[in-house]
Amino acid sequence: MLKHPLPRLDKDLELRNLLLPYCRLNYGEIWKDEKSGHKIICGDCTNFSIVEKLFENKKAKLAIQDPPYNFIAFQTFSEEEFCNWSQLWIDNTYNFLDENASLYIWLGAEQKNFFQPLSGFIKLMSKTNFKSKSFITLRNQRGYGTQKNWMSIRQELFYFVKGNPVFNIEAEYTDIPKVLNGYYKIVNENITNNFQRSKSKFIRAGNVWIDIQQVFYRMEENVNGCYAQKPLKAIERIIKASSNEKDIVIDFFSHSGTTLLASEKLNRICYAMDIEPIYCEITIRRLENFRESHKTGWQNSNPFYKEISLDYRLKTYLKNKYKIEY
Ligand SMILES: C[S@@+](CC[C@H](N)C(=O)[O-])C[C@H]1O[C@@H](n2cnc3c(N)ncnc32)[C@H](O)[C@@H]1O
Repeated sequence: MLKHPLPRLDKDLELRNLLLPYCRLNYGEIWKDEKSGHKIICGDCTNFSIVEKLFENKKAKLAIQDPPYNFIAFQTFSEEEFCNWSQLWIDNTYNFLDENASLYIWLGAEQKNFFQPLSGFIKLMSKTNFKSKSFITLRNQRGYGTQKNWMSIRQELFYFVKGNPVFNIEAEYTDIPKVLNGYYKIVNENITNNFQRSKSKFIRAGNVWIDIQQVFYRMEENVNGCYAQKPLKAIERIIKASSNEKDIVIDFFSHSGTTLLASEKLNRICYAMDIEPIYCEITIRRLENFRESHKTGWQNSNPFYKEISLDYRLKTYLKNKYKIEY
């Protein structure tokens, strides 16, 4: 059990409204970190002038986009609607990327609905000036499903490029040791195996990532209140592979602030955005908390712990509705 959990903020509007006074950004406002150059704006990424305000004539080398793609976010969900909406933020991404840059996009696929919006989205991307590079699968340890289907344990990640960006191959090596010999080849009349010839003792991730734990409540990086947090290790791998130190990395759907935190750890500059003031605030607090404590999340607490313990209305609300004691 968690000591001080925070229920999902997207599911409880009243709780969100009680926390709003503690958020620094209103719609259209920017928070700048003088120390590193990171920035976060509260705004809609389909709105060109909001994106322009964030960039101030700069261009990014890498975009990591994790849009909402389920029935919760789009109550009248249809593939066409999702793709029309996506076209707008894809165009904004393209315009603010350097001529040589990478774009990664996380996307879901509805099993019961012909894997929407995958096919429509791929068609949309084929009409842009991005080039397709890879279709990565992140393998989750746990999944969902019934007894009548294969358990769903994958997350899809697209990799596109604009121009000819960097790809740092070292990022591909996992922490999984190679255990099998094999792959014999004759070199200078001697039979060699892959252990002798390859650069590393570890296996490469390739486009199926099996070495990354999905975030759950027992992990240090867990951010209570968020519902769609990506593992830090996956974002760090993308940043290491597709950018260099001091490059600008963008994330239009910041949420728990994973891209900003990974950028901080890897000495990149992150320009982040979220339409919800509460997730902008969580992003800022995640960075501040990391700088103060070296912790990547709030395993047994949450980003608003201090305010909740001092705010009678919040405390009473959580106690009455969820039986959570502060
Ligand atoms: C799937 S979550 C992103 C998770 C994130 N990668 C992480 O690791 O925490 C999507 C986020 O996009 C935000 N969002 C939805 N529509 C948006 C829009 N039009 N512009 C900016 N942000 C938006 C939501 O508030 C939500 O926080």
